[in-house]
Amino acid sequence: MKKYINFLDLGLQPLANNYLTKKDLKKKEKKYRLKVGINLITKLVAINKPLSSKIMFNNKYPYRSSMSKTMIKSFVELSKLINKKFNPKKILEIGSNDGSFIKNFSKKKVTGIEPCANVEKITKKMGFKTYANYWNLKTAKKILRKNGKVDLIYSANTISHIKNLDEVFESINIVLNNNGILIIEDPSLLECLKKNTYDQFYNEHIYVFSLIGIESILKKHNLEIFHIQNLKIHGGSNRYFIKKIFDKRKINISVEVNRNKEIKYGLEKLATYKQFAKRVITSKKVLRNIFNYINSKNKKIIGYGVTAKSTTILNYCKIGKRLISYFIDTTKDKQNKYTPGTKIPILKYLGFIEKDVDFVFLGAWNFQEEIFNKEKKFIKRGGKFIIHTPKPKIL
Ligand code: TMP
Repeated sequence: MKKYINFLDLGLQPLANNYLTKKDLKKKEKKYRLKVGINLITKLVAINKPLSSKIMFNNKYPYRSSMSKTMIKSFVELSKLINKKFNPKKILEIGSNDGSFIKNFSKKKVTGIEPCANVEKITKKMGFKTYANYWNLKTAKKILRKNGKVDLIYSANTISHIKNLDEVFESINIVLNNNGILIIEDPSLLECLKKNTYDQFYNEHIYVFSLIGIESILKKHNLEIFHIQNLKIHGGSNRYFIKKIFDKRKINISVEVNRNKEIKYGLEKLATYKQFAKRVITSKKVLRNIFNYINSKNKKIIGYGVTAKSTTILNYCKIGKRLISYFIDTTKDKQNKYTPGTKIPILKYLGFIEKDVDFVFLGAWNFQEEIFNKEKKFIKRGGKFIIHTPKPKIL
């Protein structure tokens, strides 16, 4: 994108969530060059050539937020906090996916926007008021017409997927009451750099936000952050509580603390990103060495949890079928397909890891705790996990 200085080149990548059918294997897969850059004026960090939303988010979208207990628990806790602190009468969720958040509220109170029609169908069937639309000015005006203004808007892991941030916040301003609250939640750029999780970058994650980056865009739209929660979710996310600038709500100290942390780490400086890029190159070499070493000992490696993130890792590090026999995953729409680019078979998770497996590459490293708890038997019999963050290692 314009005004961005690239600092990281993640090579040729396929669409991160485009799991291939057997038929697809015969066709040539579309790939694009994935680079990441920083805009030193806005401090926003973004990928180079975002694809159109229609290519990425359509009626074949496989992601389901309800696949993880960690996510479900987080939504339950947040909904309690929302009711206690803000007691909103009307709530809107942008990117409601299969309903893990909206399920915690009464159907009268909550509206969901979800552009992937196959996923939106699930919540509609449950009786929720959801619309299969992209979040933009047109949708905001439609919501206003049908529903009126809302007291609270929530959006998790969605805003970072939309290229035109000005339109995102303009649309939010149309629908949100003057004393309404906007809560957005996305992976933290600071945590991404600290933990070398370069796989946060893929075609759907157009941005990985820092607080200072978000603040620069919010300011243009008369919005401001009044509280931040640092979450463990997705390897370290920030939950930003935002208000309209005219609202007199007090600004919590967490905002200044987080801002200072980011500035101290160097998120304003290009040099910080260049150092990160060097660490990413080292990470690739070490991860490849681990895989090749295990392979040379004739040990069996499988993958656990196929994620958009693991698409970036596998394609960047050129780890394919030779090194990983197959992946297991609980998501129906991913099963019996093949990983994008690397074409590794994806099998249904049967409730355990097969006895002949020696090593498991953690594609869903962001759910490490949940998965380790589930796979105690594998660990007990000496099975080992391979993880790439913060440095590639065997656990
Ligand atoms: P995500 O990191 O993009 O949320 O994707 C996580 C993927 O991992 C998703 O396809 C579901 C899968 N998964 C499992 O197969 N087993 C598990 O125990 C967990 C937590 C996730």
